[in-house]
Amino acid sequence: MGKDLKDKLKNFARSNENFTVLTGAGVSAESGIPTFRGAEGYWTIGSREYQPQEMATYSMFTQNPYEVWKWYLYRKNICEKADPNSGHVAVAEMEKLFKNRFTLITQNVDGLHIRAGNTTERTFQIHGNIFFMRCVNECTSKIFPLPEHLCGKEKDEDLTEEEKCLVRCPYCGSLTRPHVLWFDETYNETHYSYQSTLEVAGKTGLLLIVGTSGATNLPNQVATAVHHHKGIIIDINVEHNPCTQLALSGEKGYFIQQPSSTALPSILEIFKTCENR
Ligand code: OAD
Ligand code: ZN
Repeated sequence: MGKDLKDKLKNFARSNENFTVLTGAGVSAESGIPTFRGAEGYWTIGSREYQPQEMATYSMFTQNPYEVWKWYLYRKNICEKADPNSGHVAVAEMEKLFKNRFTLITQNVDGLHIRAGNTTERTFQIHGNIFFMRCVNECTSKIFPLPEHLCGKEKDEDLTEEEKCLVRCPYCGSLTRPHVLWFDETYNETHYSYQSTLEVAGKTGLLLIVGTSGATNLPNQVATAVHHHKGIIIDINVEHNPCTQLALSGEKGYFIQQPSSTALPSILEIFKTCENR
């Protein structure tokens, strides 16, 4: 990390401006969770291979609810076995340092940020959380933790009849759905903190973008808003991506080409050296 960037980070820490971290699947890659667009994301039903873009849709859920549940319970299994890595831990420490100047916006549904210590109050899980479900008939906007007896699945393991009864709304008995945003759905405030996220973006002085390919709408709006009001944007990724271009096209943009498990702890150390935050 160059001296210029270190100085910027120190000056920022001593200011009273707001700090936002925006994360994508890359931050959990080193915890063993495949990124969304990796080859591991494919799923077979019968002889057909589905991509997440086909499987993770409301339309697929209405045609084949238990196949979709099966895919989510398989992913839940992987998430459950994973542990937060040093990148997640550093982000949780950053929240402790910056307190109410801090917001985490994550596209990850794996819950690892919360397990690492970020609070649900300061974390917007803008694509939901795989460990929760909600009523498909929307009799309530409440989200429910997955029932304890609903186990994670191996890749081709079907739900048992008993498990099919568990994915039911505790209020009205209708089928439930995973609490995640699907490709054929749009963001909203109730479930995905849409307006709150944009509001935070509008007041962000420093944005760290970590491990995302920048393919989804709301993260792009966040980055564009910060770019527009000339906040500092730092893109952390193992590869160049559309966010890199955006960061570097601003006067105060940086690209750190490192794994998040290395870059985030380094940034945390710089923040820790600052007093009078
Ligand atoms: P992607 O799988 O599209 O991108 C993962 C990014 O992480 C890539 O840019 C990788 O280069 C980068 N990466 C991989 N390992 C890394 C590491 N160790 N450190 C840093 N970066 C690393 O995942 P997302 O951008 O999160 O949405 O995908 C965004 C959304 O698209 C997902 O939340 C999902 C999907 O459609 C919905 O389901 C609505
Ligand atoms: Zn219901």
